[in-house]
Amino acid sequence: QAGDAEKGEKVFKKCAACHAVGEGAKNKVGPELNEIFGRTAGSLEDYKYSKAMIEAGGGGLVWDEATLTTYLTKPKDMVKGTKMAFAGLKKQEDLDNVIAYLATFSSA
Ligand code: HEM
Repeated sequence: QAGDAEKGEKVFKKCAACHAVGEGAKNKVGPELNEIFGRTAGSLEDYKYSKAMIEAGGGGLVWDEATLTTYLTKPKDMVKGTKMAFAGLKKQEDLDNVIAYLATFSSA
């Protein structure tokens, strides 16, 4: 793992307006992010995704370090039509660190 999870916790503040992660995390504007590694995109039963995200999952998109990096760099480039209203993270360091932080809430 290239990133630093502690630094990633700070980066996650940019995500926290829309996402919860950790014990008791609930869906907010965006889906909760526990066990995101290994999750098929758009697959939580109790969250209403965009058609684009459900189709991406149907096409085989599974979240891992590589796919999260691509998505979080420019969400709308990777999943055209995603309703995630986030421009993306520009710095490789921020990407690595926030992904390392999310990994602490995933067992895969
Ligand atoms: C979807 C991560 C920022 C709103 C997702 C997904 C991931 C993710 C991994 C896909 C989840 C799945 O397939 O179950 C992140 C991270 C962020 C961030 C790490 C910060 C770096 C934001 C922000 C917002 C947001 C700021 C709101 C302004 C959403 C929404 C979806 C989503 C609405 C569902 C997308 C769809 O159905 O097309 N996010 N997100 N996210 N996120 Fe984010």
